[in-house]
Amino acid sequence: MRIGMLGTGMVGAGLSTKLVQLGHEVKMGSRSGDNPKAAEWAGKAGKNASTGTFAEAAAFGEMVFNCTHGADSMAALKMAGEQNLSGKILVDVANPLDFSTGELKLTVSNTDSLGEQIQRAFPGAKVVKTLNTMGVEVMVNPSMLPGEHVAFMSGDDQGAKDKVAEVLRSFGWKSVIDLGGIKSARGAEALLLLWIHLYGKMPDGRFNYNIVRAKQ
Ligand SMILES: NC(=O)c1ccc[n+]([C@@H]2O[C@H](COP(=O)([O-])OP(=O)(O)OC[C@H]3O[C@@H](n4cnc5c(N)ncnc54)[C@H](OP(=O)(O)O)[C@@H]3O)[C@@H](O)[C@H]2O)c1
Repeated sequence: MRIGMLGTGMVGAGLSTKLVQLGHEVKMGSRSGDNPKAAEWAGKAGKNASTGTFAEAAAFGEMVFNCTHGADSMAALKMAGEQNLSGKILVDVANPLDFSTGELKLTVSNTDSLGEQIQRAFPGAKVVKTLNTMGVEVMVNPSMLPGEHVAFMSGDDQGAKDKVAEVLRSFGWKSVIDLGGIKSARGAEALLLLWIHLYGKMPDGRFNYNIVRAKQ
């Protein structure tokens, strides 16, 4: 599959590398189109890796990932262009974190979420929020952690969620919990308020949430 990767940070690079390893073609997009981190990634990732602007990456992708800085994701997606996102699955991995006051806040929460804002702004895209509740190393290699642990998923289009679940299974995810419509992204994004504190108590980012159920 052709993937448009919006984001040149550690998440964009980690997901892009994994997707290329799985045989997909990935174009990594940035604001300028000649971002040095994107060029470095493409240089290492091989013939199925390329770079471009956010718009070029979105136009290239049959599926598009939003791995941009959460507070700037709406700006980045506007640069990607509504026409390049329409009709496509838009996998939203971003978290609307705001450290501007020195204390963690979310730029949107409680009665709304970044996932919902994106879906409202790009009604032609099928937004699926997922993978935002764990560090990038775990995201692309869930079997690095022992036992069962979960990825959540939110979105209004069931067919899009089914396709994204297939991609997650190809990463090795065994437990994907479909939380429901894109509104449920409010909960998945709010989990970051807990995740950041957990991160402060752990040796590194290699941990995740598990949900323990009663025996049926
Ligand atoms: N780090 C993790 O393990 C982790 C885990 C789960 C979710 N997340 C979420 O994943 C997303 C990516 O995280 P990251 O650490 O890889 O990268 P990041 O530093 O949060 O974001 C980098 C990307 O944001 C773009 N960007 C920055 N400012 C912008 C602006 N004003 N307008 C438009 N685009 C802008 C950059 O564009 P250029 O390429 O042009 O510089 C770059 O592509 C974030 O939303 C983060 O919360 C991170």
